[in-house]
Amino acid sequence: MAGGGFWIVFEGGDGVGKSTQIDLLAAWLSSADAGARTVLTTREPGGTDLGVELRQAVMHGDHVEPHAEALLYAADRGHHIASVVRPALERGDVVVQDRYIDSSVIYQGLARGLGDMVERVSLWATEGALPDLTVVLDMEPHADRLARDLDRVERETVAHANLIRQGFLDRAALAPQRYAVIDAARPIADVAADVRASVLAALERVGGTTAFDPESPGVEPWGTP
Ligand code: TYD
Repeated sequence: MAGGGFWIVFEGGDGVGKSTQIDLLAAWLSSADAGARTVLTTREPGGTDLGVELRQAVMHGDHVEPHAEALLYAADRGHHIASVVRPALERGDVVVQDRYIDSSVIYQGLARGLGDMVERVSLWATEGALPDLTVVLDMEPHADRLARDLDRVERETVAHANLIRQGFLDRAALAPQRYAVIDAARPIADVAADVRASVLAALERVGGTTAFDPESPGVEPWGTP
């Protein structure tokens, strides 16, 4: 990496085990085995003081109108990238982040039907910053519930979760070289081993560049092969 930072984002539906895998990966990256890197773990929404307030506004308030909700996520994101992620990458740190633009594209753009503008607003807010690697933790949602009869609300919840799951898979398929899709319905240690392997492969691919180097794969337009 030759002094350059490296940026990993975890994505996936609710309850796929992102937090556990982020903690394990961060511990490994900072261990002597992985070169004792300086690792910053962070999250969206809520990775800054302002972000904590925006998170409360978007998650704990009364119903938030969907466009307003999307803009709150984008505001959190713009501030987070400028004040936390970009400085860390410029210092040469490894950033391991819980959720990024794909979450807005899937939850607001797809599930709430707000469309393409969601992605454009986030890219504008972050000046086009894209991670070196996005790890999608993939799991069949609510598998336990599929075995029994569902009422209408349960069916809707499952359908929504399936839409979200497929959204992340489709997203990853657009740029496979910058994504790793990992089967998260397995023992934690097996998932963690695959996460480490995908990170090592991506580190090798990115080599001496940083996520904000204009020549870096990290700033290719979204979806470029
Ligand atoms: P998070 O705190 O990551 O919780 P979880 O552990 O369930 O992943 O995210 C909380 C919720 O916020 C989650 O349901 C996804 C949603 N979200 C969006 O709808 N849009 C976004 O841009 C982001 C970052 C999150």
